[in-house]
Amino acid sequence: MSPAPLLEVSGLTVTFDGTAGPALDGISFSLEAGRTLSLVGESGSGKSLTALAILRLLPPRAHMRSGLVRFQGRDLSTLDAPAMRAVRGAGISLIFQEPMTALDPVMRVGDQIAEVLRIHRLARGAAAMDRAVELLEAVRVPQASVRARDYPHQLSGGLRQRVVIAMALACRPPLVIADEPTTALDVTVQAEVLALLRDLRDRFQLALLLITHDFGVVAQMADDVAVMHRGRIVESGDVRRVLRAPREAYTQALLAAVPGVPRT
Ligand SMILES: Nc1ncnc2c1ncn2[C@@H]1O[C@H](COP(=O)(O)OP(=O)(O)OP(=O)(O)O)[C@@H](O)[C@H]1O
Ligand SMILES: [Mg+2]
Repeated sequence: MSPAPLLEVSGLTVTFDGTAGPALDGISFSLEAGRTLSLVGESGSGKSLTALAILRLLPPRAHMRSGLVRFQGRDLSTLDAPAMRAVRGAGISLIFQEPMTALDPVMRVGDQIAEVLRIHRLARGAAAMDRAVELLEAVRVPQASVRARDYPHQLSGGLRQRVVIAMALACRPPLVIADEPTTALDVTVQAEVLALLRDLRDRFQLALLLITHDFGVVAQMADDVAVMHRGRIVESGDVRRVLRAPREAYTQALLAAVPGVPRT
């Protein structure tokens, strides 16, 4: 028998107050340790909402109507608030599109990473700062010990996203959810940050739930892909199979709209 998946999402249905019809309608997928699953779809298809629902971070007007999210064998809906906070960060960390949303503008970046380590009781004081600098080195921030003393606004967008990735990895979570992690960056920087994410994933054997609307990113990064449309998964499977021989008309249309998708 194959091992239980790290993350199992089953029948996830989310509605917003005052709107007709669900925003997520029976989303199901599973992700094994060390694997990368890409959620791909047009704007508004429900990708970010899926990530937020997994982490129980839905906006106030959104409600999970049915479905199950199981992480490391535990039904996350049964956890109390402290246990859920421990899952966020130490079990599943989230990287957003825009690094400034994750960073405190008035705190030095090294201190912000050290703070994550302190909150999760992994290190404190000078040891936490040493570890923060090591993490900045791991995400290839040049002159890490100097940069650790910078405030976010003193860094370029690419370096800021590296700081966010360092924070996301601080607790060595087995699962990282990255929601359009490179969309806000310049094209050349996008490629560097993607390469970094891939290296870190392999080095730390992370499972990655990678949200993107870019099939080029899917082809480069993912083992499996799930195509979302209007709150549903319309097609999913091995990334090469889906890119080479999409079965659903919707996937075929999406792919046809992308010039030069690398058919790996
Ligand atoms: N505050 C809200 N009130 C009502 N409906 C909302 C709200 N936020 C999101 N939705 C609904 O949920 C759907 C999914 O939104 P979501 O943010 O998950 O899309 P997405 O796939 O991440 O899009 P994008 O690629 O633009 O980030 C939207 O189409 C919208 O109908
Ligand atoms: Mg989104």
